Amino acid sequence: MPKLPSSVYNPVSLVGAGIALVSFGTVAVFFAMDMLGYTDSPYLGIFTYMIIPAILILGLLLIPVGVWLEKRRLRKSGGKTRKYMLIDLNEPTHRAAVMVFAVVTMLLIVVSAAGTYQAYNYSESVEFCGEVCHEVMYPEYMAYQHSPHARVPCAECHIGAGADWFVKAKISGAYQVYSVIFNKYSKPIETPIANLRPARETCEHCHWPSKFSSDKKLEKVYFPIDTADAQPWKITMDLKIGGGQSELGPTEGIHWHMNTANDVRYIATDKKRQEIPWVSSTGPDGVTRIFRAVDKPVEDSELAGFEKRKMDCIDCHNRPSHIYYPPFRTINDAMAVNRIASTLPNIRAIASHALTREYASLEQAMRMIPSVVRDEYRTHAPEVLTERGDEVDRSIAEIERIFQRNFFPSMKVTWKEYPNNIGHMYDEGCFRCHDNKHVSDDGRALTNDCNLCHTIIVQGPASETVSDLRGLPFQHPADIDEAWRDVPCSDCHLGI
Ligand code: HEC
Ligand code: HEC
Ligand code: HEC
Ligand code: HEC
Ligand code: HEC
Ligand code: HEC
Repeated sequence: MPKLPSSVYNPVSLVGAGIALVSFGTVAVFFAMDMLGYTDSPYLGIFTYMIIPAILILGLLLIPVGVWLEKRRLRKSGGKTRKYMLIDLNEPTHRAAVMVFAVVTMLLIVVSAAGTYQAYNYSESVEFCGEVCHEVMYPEYMAYQHSPHARVPCAECHIGAGADWFVKAKISGAYQVYSVIFNKYSKPIETPIANLRPARETCEHCHWPSKFSSDKKLEKVYFPIDTADAQPWKITMDLKIGGGQSELGPTEGIHWHMNTANDVRYIATDKKRQEIPWVSSTGPDGVTRIFRAVDKPVEDSELAGFEKRKMDCIDCHNRPSHIYYPPFRTINDAMAVNRIASTLPNIRAIASHALTREYASLEQAMRMIPSVVRDEYRTHAPEVLTERGDEVDRSIAEIERIFQRNFFPSMKVTWKEYPNNIGHMYDEGCFRCHDNKHVSDDGRALTNDCNLCHTIIVQGPASETVSDLRGLPFQHPADIDEAWRDVPCSDCHLGI
């Protein structure tokens, strides 16, 4: 063992060196475990790339601190020390010290470069965002895993490319870590996210507007409440998605708002951006129209303090990845593929009841749901339990699965907390503006004409549907007169 200058041999430096050595060894072992895929615990990453390296650096810092303290002690006690270090490579102890210093520094540079890179990757990973803050991010992570974007890393939408947003994200991320540790976050997490990066800079990395294509077919089957006798009702429609850039063909259709030649802005008077009394629209001809809500007029002076938000993807696609479906939709879809046995009497209402009762926790819900369903049948139709027990069990399993994916008691998250702006069935969505009651000074209204955004091509009870490719007038499946023409669908269809 080469000898080092005597001032290094002091308790503080030695403890520092010990700490550094042990943590270096630990990092090395953890790093190997991570590389070999030995464990996929999300906490391994936090320790390997964040916590232990911090301890390692602390240990290394203790070495010079110890040397400094030792020199000060010697000076005070009258011992002989030089003011500055004199390096003489002819001295074997000095040579050894310089060698050790050079080798260790080189090693550290290499390791810390690799470490920083890993720490960067890790702090951007789905694992870090989704699994580490397990309870807080659980609803988002769960919904994300079953969304069309399940393979798109969180950071692609929440941070995007470029150094400036990276820094902003790390600053707000540090605050988030703090709020999780000290339990300062709100339940549920509030949206809209105030500092979300403009969607055009994230979504358009993958969905560039010139790629927006023509129509998209939407097929729906609705099971009536009384499942025993009535037939399911079918609606198939063409959604007119439309093109994005004027040089690439027609610019009408739903994505008209996103055409670079058009500029739509709006003022929302509530936090969730659901109340929209003022909309402006500037077309390629440069003419600007202001549409005001004539049913709920708001004075311009009252609007002055609000942001005029430029419409972007998020104003419609606010749930591209964290979709909490209303129970009606999930039950209905599960019945359509017979995962919930659609012929069980009254199953739609029973499933809805089982899902929407108050539960304090996921565990409690999993315990209660089977008994809620069975109790309903025991009281009203006991023969179902004896004769069709298999179908009841299968349906209960599916109801539990629906609960796990869409209801999160610990974070108080359900579809009700997060309105979905696509469509208009369970939330106002498009009808926030397109309600025929937003009118411009020259008398033009933002129409709710049922053919503006889609064409119904198939409609009716399952066995006797009518179809016409040129479009059918909408027929409401239940008899409510013409109420659907004036009352927003979401006023009656609350998702349950
Ligand atoms: C396809 C893009 C996309 C991906 C991928 C994505 N998010 Fe989101 N996220 C959004 C949008 C858009 C919002 C809603 C913004 C708003 O309403 O202001 C959001 C909202 C959130 C919220 C606020 C609460 C809520 O439910 O709206 C959290 C928390 C969140 N995301 C976490 C995550 C995590 C963790 C991941 C990865 C596991 C992730 N996100 C992946 C787009 C995405
Ligand atoms: C990293 C690439 C990527 C980013 C960023 C991204 N997406 Fe996607 N998106 C995809 C992929 C891949 C699909 C799945 C395509 C498929 O299923 O055919 C998809 C599908 C979709 C769909 C169709 C969903 C469906 O039900 O079929 C919508 C709408 C969508 N994305 C909107 C958005 C919005 C809004 C954002 C920004 C918040 C966004 N995407 C960001 C890659 C991305
Ligand atoms: C913030 C208000 C606002 C919201 C929300 C909104 N729109 Fe619009 N939309 C407009 C304005 C303004 C126009 C232009 C109307 C005009 O000039 O007559 C428009 C026009 C349209 C057009 C006609 C485009 C053309 O070819 O001329 C379609 C289709 C459309 N919107 C679909 C939708 C759909 C679908 C949704 C919901 C997913 C939606 N809009 C949500 C404001 C809005
Ligand atoms: C006015 C509301 C509105 C705006 C703004 C909007 N979209 Fe859409 N978009 C829709 C609707 C409605 C659909 C069809 C319904 C669906 O897929 O759920 C759709 C469909 C899509 C699809 C799926 C297309 C397919 O063929 O399946 C993608 C991808 C998409 N939008 C991306 C974007 C991106 C990126 C932006 C921002 C540049 C954007 N949208 C802005 C309303 C909008
Ligand atoms: C401003 C555009 C717009 C107008 C106007 C409009 N719709 Fe829609 N509608 C949509 C979009 C977008 C969806 C698809 C949502 C989705 O992807 O889930 C939809 C979905 C639907 C659905 C299926 C609902 C579901 O989720 O099960 C029905 C039924 C429907 N519309 C009927 C109507 C009727 C009736 C009218 C006329 C009163 C009308 N729509 C007017 C945009 C519009
Ligand atoms: C005045 C209240 C009311 C309004 C407004 C209304 N509906 Fe309904 N809707 C009902 C009732 C009640 C049923 C029958 C419930 C059942 O049997 O499940 C129903 C059933 C339906 C169904 C069959 C699926 C189901 O839930 O059973 C569809 C699809 C539907 N409505 C679409 C619409 C659309 C689209 C609009 C808006 C254009 C609309 N409704 C407006 C009350 C309403």
